[in-house]
Amino acid sequence: MKKNIALIPGDGIGPEIIREARKVLDRVCEKFGHEFTYKELLMGGCSIDAYGVPLTDETLEAARASDSVLLGAVGGNVGNSRWYDVAPNLRPEAGLLAIRKGLGLFANIRPAYLYKELKAACPLREDIIGEGFDMVIMRELTGGLYFGERHTEEVNGVKKATDTLTYDENEIRRIAIKAFEIAEKRRGKVTSVDKANVLDSSRLWRQVAEEVAKDYPNVELNHMLVDNCAMQLVMNPGQFDVILTENMFGDILSDEASMITGSIGMLSSASLSETKLGLYEPSHGSAPDIAGKDLANPIATILSAAMMLRYSFDMDKEADAVEAAVSTVLEEGWRTGDIMSEGCTLVGTAKMGDLIAERI
Ligand code: IPM
Ligand code: MG
Repeated sequence: MKKNIALIPGDGIGPEIIREARKVLDRVCEKFGHEFTYKELLMGGCSIDAYGVPLTDETLEAARASDSVLLGAVGGNVGNSRWYDVAPNLRPEAGLLAIRKGLGLFANIRPAYLYKELKAACPLREDIIGEGFDMVIMRELTGGLYFGERHTEEVNGVKKATDTLTYDENEIRRIAIKAFEIAEKRRGKVTSVDKANVLDSSRLWRQVAEEVAKDYPNVELNHMLVDNCAMQLVMNPGQFDVILTENMFGDILSDEASMITGSIGMLSSASLSETKLGLYEPSHGSAPDIAGKDLANPIATILSAAMMLRYSFDMDKEADAVEAAVSTVLEEGWRTGDIMSEGCTLVGTAKMGDLIAERI
C-alpha cells in the first residue's frame, strides 16, 4: 500500500523521537511491502522562527492533503523563550490547537497500559497494581474550555479573565459514539467522567452518554465525577476500560494515567476525525531540557506510529508487529533513562529505535 505521511517533528526532543518512529515505519515498509512517502512540515516554535506563526495555512493544507500526520512535540521553556513573549495565539501550543481544530480531530485516544516489565517504574504499591491495568482515555479534543470564548479585561480597575466551557449535544454524541465503539472491541465498559454535581455542560454530557449507551447493549456505562476519578486512578486503576471525558478533564486525567504506567515517555495518542485522517503524537511534551542529548524515550512516538497504522491505514498486523517489537525490547531488558530499573541495560534514543526496528 502507498501512503503519504506528514511528519511534524516540532521542537525540543521532537526531531529525535520522530527520527526513531520513521526508522520503525521504514522497517514496516520493508517487511510488509508498503511504500510510505514523508513530507516534513514545521509547526510550533520552529515555525515561529521560520514564518512568524506557529502554524501556517500552507502547513495546515499540506497536513490535510496527507493520509495521516505524525507529530513529535511542540513548545519550549515558558518564561525564557522568545516564543512566549507574544500574544497567546502566536505561541507554539497555539499551532497544536489550530491543527486539531483545523483537521476536525475531535476524538483523542490515549491508552494507558502497564507493561509487566515496567512494574518497577510504576509509583503505585504492588497491592494496588494487582494484575496491572489496561485503559483507554477518550478525550474530547476540539471543544470545551480550550475553544470557548475567552478574554481578559479590566472592570472598575480590577483585572478580570474569562474562559467559557460550552458543549452542544452533537459534540458530545460523536465522541461518546467513538468511546462505545472502542469499548465494544475491548472489555465492554465505559466510564463517563464529568462534574455533573456542579456544571451544566456535565449534566448534558451525562444525558447524551445515556442516550448513546442505548445503542450499545453489550457495553456497560457508568458515570464518575472527575475528582473521584482522579482518586480512583491511583487507588484502583484496574477498574477502568474506556474513560470518556471532555477536553480539560481528559488533559489532566491522561497525564495522571500516564504517570502510573511508569513514565509519560510510554504513552501514545491518536486524534481522530470523521474521516481516516488522523494525527498521532506522544502524550508527552517537547522536554527542552533533554533535547538533542539522545536521552528521550522514543517509545510513545513509536507506539503512536503503530496507532496510525491501525486506525488510519487499517494495517492491523503491521501495528501488532510494532507493538510486539516494543514488548520484546522491554522483555529483553533495554531501557531509556526514564524507565530504567536495576538489572536492565540503559540505552539512548537512537539505540532504542534501532532495537525496536530490528525486532519487526
Ligand atoms: C496535551 C498537551 C496540550 C493540551 C497542550 C500542549 C496545549 O498538554 O496534548 O495534553 O493541553 O492539550
Ligand atoms: Mg496535556
